[in-house]
Amino acid sequence: MARKPIIAGNWKMHKTLTESVEFVHELVPLVAEFTGVEQVVCPTFVALAAVADALQDSDIGVGAQSLHWEAQGAFTSQISPAMLQGIAEYVIIGHSECRAYLHETDEMVNKKTKAALAYNLKPIIAVGESNEQNEAGQTQTVVSGQIRAALDGIDAANMQHIIIAYEPIWAIGTGKNASGAIAESIIGGTIRTTLSELYGDAIAQSVRIQYGGSVKPDNMAEYMSQPNIDGALVGGASLKTDSFAALIQIAQEQKGS
Ligand code: 13P
Repeated sequence: MARKPIIAGNWKMHKTLTESVEFVHELVPLVAEFTGVEQVVCPTFVALAAVADALQDSDIGVGAQSLHWEAQGAFTSQISPAMLQGIAEYVIIGHSECRAYLHETDEMVNKKTKAALAYNLKPIIAVGESNEQNEAGQTQTVVSGQIRAALDGIDAANMQHIIIAYEPIWAIGTGKNASGAIAESIIGGTIRTTLSELYGDAIAQSVRIQYGGSVKPDNMAEYMSQPNIDGALVGGASLKTDSFAALIQIAQEQKGS
């Protein structure tokens, strides 16, 4: 089965509640015709419910940027999967900024992924190597290890709900994007091979894998022309309606059916 391309905007810590709602009102008419592409925005928790409400009659999905693995409890500042249910459809897990600044470990990524699945949320699991690891030739080992750890104990039936995002840390917010060929070799090579070892080839071929890291309208076509890249997880270029819509349009033209 063909993999439907998916473009997700990770807004990180940007946009107030008002700005978030205004943004999606502006976005909807710009992208409504690109039905061959799954479109997702990931606002801050504060704006999540209002954005979901504003998008109720559109095809644009809503994702959270993280979650806790417990359903409830004494975890000041945290948001549980039960709270996201009915509001968000997706949840980003293991973003390198959460790994770096919030000390999210592979084990936590695994717990969060299981919790998300238990509450019918679709995890977007982010993996990627640092500049240091890249220069030391450790990219494949690091990425493969992160995938194995994130998916530990997750059965094959759940893989249809999981999206993986390959985001080399050195490419995030730096303007120094990985070339299409490099992204394709890690996604089509390392990641699909790891998935194949874990779940067999048919499932490895069916999982959608995004590239992320300085994706912009002028380099998007380079990614979408690669056979194994199924879309993008976008930071900076998702914060403006015109650039985010341009990315979706390019995905539609190259891979949307
Ligand atoms: P940029 O697109 O700003 O490089 O961010 C990528 C990212 O971290 C998306 O999750």
